[in-house]
Amino acid sequence: MKMLAAGTTLASALAIAAAPAQAADAARGEQLYARCAACHALASDRVGPRHCGLLGRRAGSVPGFFYTDGMKKSKLVWDDKTLDRFLAKPMAVVPGTSMTYDGVPDAQDRTDLIAYLRKAGTGPQCSRP
Ligand code: HEC
Repeated sequence: MKMLAAGTTLASALAIAAAPAQAADAARGEQLYARCAACHALASDRVGPRHCGLLGRRAGSVPGFFYTDGMKKSKLVWDDKTLDRFLAKPMAVVPGTSMTYDGVPDAQDRTDLIAYLRKAGTGPQCSRP
């Protein structure tokens, strides 16, 4: 019986591992967002700028937030591609950025985080002015 239980667990672990790498999981992304919450919130600026409305906005464009020149001059527009690049290695992609964070090395983690940012950015927490 014990063996069977272990086998079942292994099988489900393999099923999870075999899931398509690109499927984005916003709920998982919400949990991963804990890594960002030391500096960011959705609806208000903290050490870093608010994330409401992030997808589709130009880098360095939240009014009243004090960005670095590096961020303002990066000419990035935040979409899946630019966020994926930036979150992998913030300080390499935007030289001089004050986001002194090593980055999110795992591609699936980044995909899930971006799915969360997209969903939350237009959700109830962001709909109030
Ligand atoms: C140590 C604090 C810190 C952490 C942790 C952090 N950030 Fe940041 N973030 C910043 C700061 C500061 C800026 C502004 C950077 C600048 O002006 O160069 C920023 C900027 C950004 C921007 C650009 C926003 C804009 O308006 O152009 C994005 C996107 C971003 N962070 C996403 C994230 C995500 C996602 C995480 C978690 C994986 C994260 N950050 C973790 C401090 C942090």
